Formats: sequence, structure tokens, C-alpha cells
Amino acid sequence: MNIIKKPSWNISENEVTPEALFNSRRTFLKLGAAALVTSGALIEALAKDNIPVPNLKYLKDKNINNLDLNTYEQITTYNNFYEFTTSKGGVKDLAHTLDTNNWEVEISGLVEKPFTIDVNDLIKKFTLEERIYRFRCVEGWSMVVPWNGFTVADLIKLAKPLSKAKYIRFETKYDDDMFPDQRRGVFGAVDYPYVEGLRMDEAMNDLSFLAVGLYGSILPKQNGAPLRLVVPWKYGFKSIKSISKISFHEEEPLNTWQKSNSREYGFYANVNPNVDHPRWSQKRERVLGKFLKQRTLMFNGYEKEVGHLYNGMDLRKYI
Ligand code: MTE
Repeated sequence: MNIIKKPSWNISENEVTPEALFNSRRTFLKLGAAALVTSGALIEALAKDNIPVPNLKYLKDKNINNLDLNTYEQITTYNNFYEFTTSKGGVKDLAHTLDTNNWEVEISGLVEKPFTIDVNDLIKKFTLEERIYRFRCVEGWSMVVPWNGFTVADLIKLAKPLSKAKYIRFETKYDDDMFPDQRRGVFGAVDYPYVEGLRMDEAMNDLSFLAVGLYGSILPKQNGAPLRLVVPWKYGFKSIKSISKISFHEEEPLNTWQKSNSREYGFYANVNPNVDHPRWSQKRERVLGKFLKQRTLMFNGYEKEVGHLYNGMDLRKYI
């Protein structure tokens, strides 16, 4: 018998907000938290944390796994964004140089017709959803984040890739006025622009997400405004921030961390407690704000949704 199982982020149809609304990022929509934020977990979090008034309309995630959300404060003050600094606590104070106005996203490569679009016009094309996801960094820390955005699959439908496209590639904006570490050239923390990629079947999986907000508000700069990837079953470095180019290819793109150290970081980067990083164990993780470490789950707890993508692959080899 073919039983259709609900994916863990499933949103029922009667919860659909009629139209996705994303007004100018400068305009602060005075819609009030209650109109927009209705999930119990969110209301609770809003009350105890210093969260900006939500300014996005989105379909709610029912959080059927009852994931315990990290606070807005935790998510926005402990960041990896090497274009600013390698200090996790330092990113938020430096990120103001990132200017998200007039931000364009170029769609190119193996597509029917390449185009460039203002990020606000792009976002308006989609119904925004909330996705409450576990997020596990390769360094051994993790958090649970309520993202807002749309699926990579929706973006792919808009981009109309040709059938020979086997991979999707993402690139962070290159602008050394905005990103001080890019100015350091060969002495930068990593090679810029930051690049990431997914196999097309990974990108088409419903979990693959492009975030434009968190906790119902547009993304803070330190978290990768105005558009960042979120691939919850992969280590956090796959979740590239501040995307300005998306392209489609026949060949596997060389992602930044693989280029930097292919012995330690690969293309796939699936969260896997059974395959240690060459320098540390991946069996456990520290959730931000918690004292005791917890067990890391295979594919970060999303095995049911994505395990089939890797059937027959040696996950010790394809790191
Ligand atoms: N994207 C860019 N452009 N630059 C970066 O340095 N760091 C990655 C990823 N995306 C990074 C990036 C890493 S290592 C992680 S763990 C996550 O962003 C961190 O996301 P967060 O700061 O929102 O938690």
C-alpha cells in the first residue's frame, strides 16, 4: 500500500494566507504581530525575546515535531559570515555595510532565457512560507530557526532550466565596499565570491529553501539578507548567504569550502553522525543556549525526506 506520509514541515491548506505580501524592505508594515504571527511557539518566543514586529506574510509551519525554537537573539548574534569577519560574535556589528537596496539576482547558465531581476520583484512572485528547521553547522553547534521564504523548486520553475542542467550554483555578491574581507584579496579568509551548489534533485526536494526572513521579519544582514539558501539536512556552510547569482550547469560546481580544503569539506556535506570530520567527531552537537550536547541525527533528522537521494552512494567518500 502506498501511504503518503506528511513531511515534517507540512502546512495544512486551511492555514494558507491568500496572497504573499512583501512590501518594500524599507516600509515597515504596521499589521501587528497578532495578524501575522499565530503559531503558539512563535507567540511565546515573541513575548520573551526582543523580536522586531513581523513584516512578512507567510503560511505557517505547524511545527509538528515540536522543535524548540532558538531565540531571535541567539540566531542573530552568533553567525558565520566570513565576508565580514571570522568572529561569530562580531558579524552583527559589522554587517551594516551590506546594502540590500537595489539588489539584483542574475539567473543564467543552462536556462531557456537568462534574466536579471530585482530581489523584491523576485520575492513577490512567490507565496512565502515559514519553515521551522534544524540547522547544524559542521563545527558542531546547532539551532532551530523559523525561516520565511520560498522553495528552491519554485525558483527553478521560474528559471526554466534546460534538461541538460544537472546542478544549480549559487554565488554571494562580490562587492568589497560591502564585504570588507573581500578587499583582502588572496589574504581573505576564503576565496570570494562565496559559491555553493546542489544537484538538481537535491534542489528540487521540498526541503530546499530560499530564505528572505526569520521570525516573520526580513532577514537581518548578518543572517544573509536579502536572500540566502537553507538546506537543513546539510551542514550549515551549504546555506550560502546574500545570493546575487544563480546558474544552472552540467558539471558539479566547485563550492568554496571544497576549494579551500577538499580533504575536510566536500560538495555534499550531508549531516552524518557516522562520518567524523578529520579533526573532530560529528556524533554530537551543542544547541545554542543549551549546556549539554545532544546526539546528531542522520541527515539532521530529515532522513525520511531525503535519504533516498543518496541510495547506493558511499557517504564516507562523498563527504
Ligand atoms: N555564506 C557566505 N556568503 N559566507 C559565509 O561565510 N558561512 C556559512 C553559511 N553561509 C557563510 C555563508 C556557514 S559556515 C554557516 S554555519 C552559515 O552560513 C551560518 O549561518 P547563520 O550565521 O545564519 O547561522
